[in-house]
Amino acid sequence: MLVRLLYVSQPVGPITTTITTLILEKSDSHNKKANITGVLCQGSGLWLQVLEGERSKVNLLYARIMADRNHQNIQLLSMEEITQRRFGQWSMALVYLSKDDPMVQMSHPEFDPYTASAKDAFLILDELIKTGTPIVNAS
Ligand SMILES: Cc1cc2nc3c(=O)[nH]c(=O)nc-3n(C[C@H](O)[C@H](O)[C@H](O)COP(=O)(O)O)c2cc1C
Repeated sequence: MLVRLLYVSQPVGPITTTITTLILEKSDSHNKKANITGVLCQGSGLWLQVLEGERSKVNLLYARIMADRNHQNIQLLSMEEITQRRFGQWSMALVYLSKDDPMVQMSHPEFDPYTASAKDAFLILDELIKTGTPIVNAS
């Protein structure tokens, strides 16, 4: 059974390139093996991540991610059964979510995933993917 999970969290310190690179490296090797796909948005003091895959695999990965001390205030926004992946082409794509980033035309600077509905969060996510350039691990 396939599921799509969405959560939001706050990095504990500044997000450095090293942290992001490590996350993308882990995602590339682990998510490919577990057949998990998704998107990680980062910026404005937030991480917003979608994980798609077999329910048991997504549960295991989410538990691992929750235990990661690089972030806090992890809040599950949505976990739904799906018949089709929306982000099936990426083991984990990175999209910048920052109103200060000129690469991002943030049309909803007031967006706060902690209070938004999951539906709105997914709409914003779709917008970010369209306007920002998803960065994909080339390996
Ligand atoms: C915001 C965030 C997103 C992450 N996403 C993933 C992911 O999609 N896949 C993954 O394997 N690890 C991800 N990680 C890393 C895991 O939390 C964990 O550090 C890693 O999987 C441990 O791998 P290891 O047991 O091989 O050291 C993420 C970490 C953070 C902070």
